[in-house]
Amino acid sequence: MSIQIAPARGKLGILTPGIGAVSTTFMAGVEAVRKGYGAPVGSLTQLGTVRLGKRTDNRTPLIRDFVPLAGLNQLVFGGWDIFEDNAYEAAVNAGVLEPDLLRKLKPSLRKIQPMKAVFDRNYVKRIDGPNVKTKGSLRDKAEQLIEDMRTFRESNRCDRLVMIWCGSTEVFRRPAKVHQTLTAFEQGLAKNDPDIAPSQVYAYAALQSGVPFANGAPNLTHDIPALLALARDRNVPVCGKDFKTGQTYMKTLLAPGLKARMLGCSGWFSTNILGNRDGEVLDDPGSFKTKEETKLSVLDQILQPNLYPDLYKDLFHSVRINYYPPRGDEKEGWDNIDIFGWLGYPMQIKIDFLCRDSILAAPLVLDLVLFLDLAQRAGMKGVQEWLSFYFKAPMTAPGLYPEHDIFIQLMKLKNTLRWMRGEDLITHLGLEYYD
Ligand SMILES: NC(=O)c1ccc[n+]([C@@H]2O[C@H](COP(=O)([O-])OP(=O)(O)OC[C@H]3O[C@@H](n4cnc5c(N)ncnc54)[C@H](O)[C@@H]3O)[C@@H](O)[C@H]2O)c1
Repeated sequence: MSIQIAPARGKLGILTPGIGAVSTTFMAGVEAVRKGYGAPVGSLTQLGTVRLGKRTDNRTPLIRDFVPLAGLNQLVFGGWDIFEDNAYEAAVNAGVLEPDLLRKLKPSLRKIQPMKAVFDRNYVKRIDGPNVKTKGSLRDKAEQLIEDMRTFRESNRCDRLVMIWCGSTEVFRRPAKVHQTLTAFEQGLAKNDPDIAPSQVYAYAALQSGVPFANGAPNLTHDIPALLALARDRNVPVCGKDFKTGQTYMKTLLAPGLKARMLGCSGWFSTNILGNRDGEVLDDPGSFKTKEETKLSVLDQILQPNLYPDLYKDLFHSVRINYYPPRGDEKEGWDNIDIFGWLGYPMQIKIDFLCRDSILAAPLVLDLVLFLDLAQRAGMKGVQEWLSFYFKAPMTAPGLYPEHDIFIQLMKLKNTLRWMRGEDLITHLGLEYYD
């Protein structure tokens, strides 16, 4: 039995709080693909396939032919930022894409003008800008965001919207009292409770408007009981947190491999140099702490030292990010991994990943918005664990540990798509081939 999925008719509006390196690389990239200037490399929704039935059936459609996703030509973009630069200017500043390519995309990118942001310097300390909402309480600002969305939807004649946080990393916060229930949260909005972060005002506004919400940064944002209850009440799918792109992506490839072969690990030292605005924000200890938490959690969950104490109980794991402007968006991430094998003999692995942060993140933004929109049309609500594949700190139901192994995450994602279409789930048991 497949489930009912409403067709992907009309335009899908993508709204990003934050018009910076990641979001402009995503928007410009989609425009470049539409115009035939490049290919959507890194995007599972555009290039990936899904095997159906038995290995002998030879049924492997493209994912985008198998489930009804919005097409790239149906997407329109908008967003908010504390700076007034339009998406063309922001993309030039970010310095990710070649100036020649950006010039060709300028007519469409310059039309994307940032709406006024909800901002609080207590949450992002290293930057400040003029394009902010100043009037009223946080509750009034949430109403203004809801109005922004309504206006955007009408003026662009959008059928549906999705919001994805591509704003800076906010300082580290644990859930407080105001985050526990929707009533407490709404009272907190009215009273400007200092425990409510700007990203939470955006998430609240999206959910109130029935708009699916994803969080690309490690901030707490909607990973709190109050907003998860709102998502369920409003039948809205949500997911997060923190795009899994460079170093952590490498970790979730390698660590399951070490564990699969029962190889031990005594130390994993990771360091990065990064020179874009994200790097500047992360230079603040409060914002770095938020990032550090999501980056550190991955290894513990994958290696399970409680189950394999002889292999992983003494693992020393350390993560550093250094702001180094000459590199811009072209981050370099080093890992030194001390492992041990048979009879405890030590070995080392070194990784030097010269990556491009936003080039890795942009296709994830595309996949997430298309899948969240699909989930909404399929009537799915609350946390979408099948989208863990994209995140460093996947959100889960309360009490459930997150699954970090990227291959399990991919299987879960594809099985969810099979389930949506009433196809058999694939277990890889395969005994039937030998009957
Ligand atoms: N590979 C990656 O690039 C990657 C991976 C994982 C997570 N992230 C996260 O994604 C986010 C975006 O990264 P980026 O490289 O585009 O950073 P960026 O600094 O280029 O862009 C972020 C933008 O958000 C704006 N902003 C900050 N607070 C805002 C608010 N309250 N409302 C509206 N706009 C606001 C800033 O002015 C800035 O223009 C960061 O939090 C980053 O940590 C990026």
